[in-house]
Amino acid sequence: MAVGIGFGKVILFGEHFVVHGIPGIVAGINDRTIATVENSKKFELIDNRPETPGYKAEKLEQQRESMKLIFQKMGIDAESKPVKIVLWGNLLAATGVGASAASCAAIARALAGHFGQDSRDERINEIAFEGEKAYHGNPSGIDNTAATYGGLLWFIRGTPNRVERIACKKPIDIVMGNTGITGDTKKAVEAVKERKENNPERFEKIFEEAKEIAFKARKAIEEGNIEEIGKLANKNQGLLREIGVSSGELEELIGIALEQGAIGAKLTGGGMGGYMIAVTPGKELQEKVAKSMQEKGYQTIKTSVG
Ligand code: MEV
Repeated sequence: MAVGIGFGKVILFGEHFVVHGIPGIVAGINDRTIATVENSKKFELIDNRPETPGYKAEKLEQQRESMKLIFQKMGIDAESKPVKIVLWGNLLAATGVGASAASCAAIARALAGHFGQDSRDERINEIAFEGEKAYHGNPSGIDNTAATYGGLLWFIRGTPNRVERIACKKPIDIVMGNTGITGDTKKAVEAVKERKENNPERFEKIFEEAKEIAFKARKAIEEGNIEEIGKLANKNQGLLREIGVSSGELEELIGIALEQGAIGAKLTGGGMGGYMIAVTPGKELQEKVAKSMQEKGYQTIKTSVG
């Protein structure tokens, strides 16, 4: 039996803008998806990942399409060489934590192991990118890159993509709050593209600001300037609101976090539901913010990045 893993991720800065060539900052998280592959009489995909209720059903079509793209990219004929793939692990299948990318990377690794193909990170990342197309339409590549390599990364889409490891001076304590709503990243990415085309001047300004925030955020992370990281997260959220990818539930969670003393908060990933992050330096503040979200019925992850 072959096994593969993919990391969950949290985008600290630049989601959506990164699709259009603006730098993004992403961190792999400890939660991960695991895939196992073995020979079988017919093709089977058994999805045992824990989930936000409804996520897996909602993504089923995209998951099927993603499998096709992965098989195609790897040159595997699933009919003549049927396999059983089982997905599991501790990463919650939900919007915003890179669940689709983690599953693509895990499946690619396990299939490469099973069929004796090249399983170096570069190749796994290429395959996972292909699989992500079913979920994101036009993925930037940031999620599959984080899912494959893990760590704290600076990512610029291009030919080729520019990926650099960021040296973080001080780990950043965050709380991730889950709205419990499954967002459709594909639709969100398409909607931003359309709004951008309809309002080129306004969006050019917003995108310029997003670029500035990304560069400042990288510097603040490298210098361990947590106050600045918090401020920039709030500014980034302002821009995400302007491009129309926030939601009532995300805003509620952001409100709770800031009220409880978080120094910054923003949605993370595709938005329109899914997860948000709050910058909460110190275990005490982190605990206080997480508890307050939980009291309102939201599920949380407490973690440190960098
Ligand atoms: C989704 O996690 C991140 C987006 O920027 C899409 C992408 O980069 O492919 C919204």
